[in-house]
Amino acid sequence: MNALSAPRGMHDLVAPGSEIRQRLEHTLIELAHNYGFFPIRTPLAEQLELFKRSVGETTDIVEKEMYLLQQEGSRQLALRPENTAGCVRALLQHSLPLPQKLYYLGPMFRYERPQAGRYRQFHQFGVEFFGGEAPVADCEIIALCCAIWNRLGMNPRLEINYLGSREERRAFNRKLVAFLQRHEDRLDSDSRKRLGRNPLRVLDSKHPDTLALLDHAPNLHDFLQPQSRAAFEELQQGLNRLGIAYTINPRLVRGLDYYNDLVFEWTSEHLGAQAAVCAGGRYDQLCADLGGGGAPATGFALGLERLGLILESGGLLSPPPQADAVLVWANQGDAFDKLDLLTQLRAALPRMRVVGVTGNMHKQLNKADKLGARLALIVGASERESGQVTLKYLREEKEQTTIPLATLASHFQPEPAD
Ligand code: HAM
Repeated sequence: MNALSAPRGMHDLVAPGSEIRQRLEHTLIELAHNYGFFPIRTPLAEQLELFKRSVGETTDIVEKEMYLLQQEGSRQLALRPENTAGCVRALLQHSLPLPQKLYYLGPMFRYERPQAGRYRQFHQFGVEFFGGEAPVADCEIIALCCAIWNRLGMNPRLEINYLGSREERRAFNRKLVAFLQRHEDRLDSDSRKRLGRNPLRVLDSKHPDTLALLDHAPNLHDFLQPQSRAAFEELQQGLNRLGIAYTINPRLVRGLDYYNDLVFEWTSEHLGAQAAVCAGGRYDQLCADLGGGGAPATGFALGLERLGLILESGGLLSPPPQADAVLVWANQGDAFDKLDLLTQLRAALPRMRVVGVTGNMHKQLNKADKLGARLALIVGASERESGQVTLKYLREEKEQTTIPLATLASHFQPEPAD
């Protein structure tokens, strides 16, 4: 029998990677909180219909990448490939009042060809800001991205584009299709398929022949009406005022259909072909498209695996210590005596990871050091006799001290503020 393994493109995460991820998640949650966002949790599966009507029936995601669930008798369910649609569905289903600033963290599923930075189960941290008007809300979520990069010591590049309204895009689409049809023989095979189904996505091609042709294609920005031009200008001024650097990429179109006006992507040279670590934009029509009242909306999602790859290649990830404090004891008593002592120490030091190791006391001290612990909690024969514990600081220039076990908790409590 073949050994069982995780499905292709889906991965286990074990320590220290799992702990590094968890710390990253805490940082993201803290910053989202700081920016006034609240957590939302939506199901991992939604009706397939939801993604058809939001992400778009002719997108690669819905056409080729959905995980469909077999169910008898009821509507077809799909594992979520992204969570903007789910958030809009929840907003409408629960008639949540506006504004709503939501964030989420969790797995998404796309049946893609796996490669570095591209997986079939991956994890996103995302924010959705409902009821936030352009361009201030857009600038606010982009500022949140900047706060994340600053906190993590990263420096990705921001590209933005302005798609305008549906009418403007339709006018552009007509001209683009006419142009591409005239030069269909110069298109790569993927772009030829896209031309029939979703012509805007041809702009996304990486094929050199198609790219050369696109240099002469109509430009989306020429189809923007004065109102959209002014709004785009205002957005750029907003970013400038916040000191956020960006480049305008008129070919940035994104693989999801719900966007209007602003779209953006943060890319990093550490990621190779899958360069986008974070992406988003405005989607003012989506609530109405899904049967609700209109609501201005903007958001982004960042891929945690790609974030990890960037941090790793930049040497920005330090594995956390495997223990904060280690019990070093004189081996009196049995395993339950040791567990009893550990239980007391853990109750006294609830914010620390307190572990026990084996061997003689010298070996135990060595192991404590290897685990990266700050503190050795020594209970030798004399401490045990007197109900005390000796605190030996392994990383700080601090005197070793012996204190009653009963005062351990208060010893590590922060001094009350004046
Ligand atoms: P997206 O561009 O499809 O947008 O995905 C956002 C991020 O998720 C990407 O930049 C990338 O870091 C990560 N990602 C996407 N696919 C994969 C994959 N197969 N493997 C690993 N990482 C991946 C959205 O999902 C939109 N819902 C973003 C949004 C929120 N727009 C408005 N609000």
